Amino acid sequence: MKRFLDLADLTREEVLALLELARRLERAPQPQALSGKILGLLFLNPSLRTLASFQAGMARLGGSSFVITPGQGTWQLETKPGAVMDGAAAEHAREGVAVLASYCDALGIRAFADGKDLAADLAETRFNAMAELVEKPLINLESAINHPCQALADWKTMDDLGVPRGGRFVLSWAYHPRPLPLAVPAAALHMAALRGMEVVVLRPEGFALPMALMDKARRAAGLSGGSVRETDERDEALSGAHILYAKEWGATSCYGDAAADAALRARLTGWCVRNDWFGRAAGDCRLMHCLPVRRNVAVADEVLDGARSVVQLQAYNRLTAQMAVLYRLLKGI
Ligand code: CP
Repeated sequence: MKRFLDLADLTREEVLALLELARRLERAPQPQALSGKILGLLFLNPSLRTLASFQAGMARLGGSSFVITPGQGTWQLETKPGAVMDGAAAEHAREGVAVLASYCDALGIRAFADGKDLAADLAETRFNAMAELVEKPLINLESAINHPCQALADWKTMDDLGVPRGGRFVLSWAYHPRPLPLAVPAAALHMAALRGMEVVVLRPEGFALPMALMDKARRAAGLSGGSVRETDERDEALSGAHILYAKEWGATSCYGDAAADAALRARLTGWCVRNDWFGRAAGDCRLMHCLPVRRNVAVADEVLDGARSVVQLQAYNRLTAQMAVLYRLLKGI
């Protein structure tokens, strides 16, 4: 494995092998496995879990890491090709990313969506412009429409909990005061479909996931025996559900139009996950969320602090899953 940019770049069997490696490293730690190796981490957007879990994972495998957050002690970084750099950014990614890659054995990059042009974000324009500058092993730490590290951790979390492979996985839109990117819903949708689950996307009108993402998930479901559909009927969607995966995202019907998005979401504050959402779900239906989560806005205290919530296990599994990714990328076995 040379790059970890999208779970869809791997076969289902390769994903299962990566998950088995994660379990093996969890059972039998290898504190010298990556001795002398260096991971570079470039964060163009904030993080708690991704940043800390990659640094911790690298250290637990005997390697080390450095972190660059442009504009915070380092030069601001311009990422647009052809930009006239007469603004705040003193360095362009064409030099900066290539320089960072020359210092390390593997590089991770986080670059969220611009959130203005859906076609450009779906094409991963910003991330790909940087990725093509890197010859070394490369990790997607969250791009415009992908978060493969989160997806791998989420798959492992469901395996750890014994969630049936063919169980019902409801990816539900949740309220947030601002339009958030499509990366996590897109990655979770594809992951659950590839796992072989009965995936239901529950979302209000105006928030349907782009056709390209639904089609990609349907192709994955076709390989695994799963299925993918969407609805705005909450009770029906959650009937018999094994997983309620809550996530906030921006209106796709008016992508990039902040005023239209705000007008749409203003009447959707009721999409805050509460205990009564689980009335028709399986008795052991779990609440998943990638975090960070706005309490009592996207998910209520009563759910996050209740027995259904597995958000802490998901966050812990960022460490175990990513250690497997680092091991595979840097040891090559
Ligand atoms: N879920 C996730 O990626 O968390 P961070 O944004 O804190 O890294």
